[in-house]
Amino acid sequence: MENTLERIYADAMEALASATDVDAVSDLSTQYLGRKGHITHYLRNISSLPVAERPQAGKRANEIKRSLEGEFKNTLTRLANVSKTATDRIDVSLPGRVPEKGSLHPITQITNHICNIFSQMGFDVVEGPEVETDYYNFEALNIPKNHPARDMQDTFYVSDNVVLRTHTSPTQPRVMEKQPPPVRIIAPGKVYRCDSDLTHTPMFHQVEGLLVDRHVSFADLKGTLTAFIHQMFDDQTTLRFRPSFFPFTEPSAEVDIRCVICRGKGCRVCSQTGWLEILGSGMVHPAVFENIGYDTNRYTGFAFGMGVERIAMLKYGIDDIRRYFDNDYRFLSQF
Ligand code: FA5
Ligand code: MG
Repeated sequence: MENTLERIYADAMEALASATDVDAVSDLSTQYLGRKGHITHYLRNISSLPVAERPQAGKRANEIKRSLEGEFKNTLTRLANVSKTATDRIDVSLPGRVPEKGSLHPITQITNHICNIFSQMGFDVVEGPEVETDYYNFEALNIPKNHPARDMQDTFYVSDNVVLRTHTSPTQPRVMEKQPPPVRIIAPGKVYRCDSDLTHTPMFHQVEGLLVDRHVSFADLKGTLTAFIHQMFDDQTTLRFRPSFFPFTEPSAEVDIRCVICRGKGCRVCSQTGWLEILGSGMVHPAVFENIGYDTNRYTGFAFGMGVERIAMLKYGIDDIRRYFDNDYRFLSQF
């Protein structure tokens, strides 16, 4: 019987020596020391031994039991530490993992920059809806139905009387009908036209500007836009006011700036002219004021609408407007 006991002990120690993980050790513990384990079984059967052998066998069996309990416990602790070293412990000597930093889209950055410059001049920033009624997009701006000027902007129609706004100008009547003069606002946002090439995309961004007060003149318009362009680019930037036509302004002017891609020599971006149009502007047409109910004898005003992508192209020297909407990470991560 004593040999049986020593063999159980030897087997247990051998099995434990080759156990490589916590689960295996737990299983062995149950196998030898559990309620139905080998050692427990042995102790329970001591009464069947000859009386003379019982004290010695019981003493030895209890020694072995305590020894195994100790060995299992030590092995469990050792294995738990090993797995911690491998997976959980922090190695402070490793270089840190730097998270990728996101950034604002270049068009958003330029829009914010434009808004900041005009905010400093005292303009409030407002926004209007991108899905707009025919009334605000055309009618209120002195562009009646069947007026040829509707062809200037290739319109996406949602229904007979609802369009995707073709410019940010509908924010003008929207703001004016809510408040009396003086008005001094800019309105950034997305606009839509059925148009696509090197310098045109079907969705692009404009920033509208409107100032209405007493004694506002064309000189104020020129001064404001020149100050803006000198802040946006630098004060050496050449710009020109070119007579133009918009049904909602009179007189009207478009503003071009010297093409920064070719520095005025002529390239495919400026269609060999050396100039790139960035905005339309003019003195608010009296018909627009009359629609709103502003007194045309007391008030005058100027308005402008600029293309944000065009300004971004010039600012960053990008020769294809479509780059802004390709979502190419290599392009975007440069800004
Ligand atoms: C207008 O949209 C007028 N609402 C501007 C205006 C406002 C005039 C207030 C007078 C008073 P125009 O269609 O020219 O005008 O567009 C204005 C600017 O938007 C252009 O100078 C150009 O910079 C930009 N733009 C026009 N079409 C596109 C396009 N398809 N893609 C990118 N930019 C464009
Ligand atoms: Mg134009």
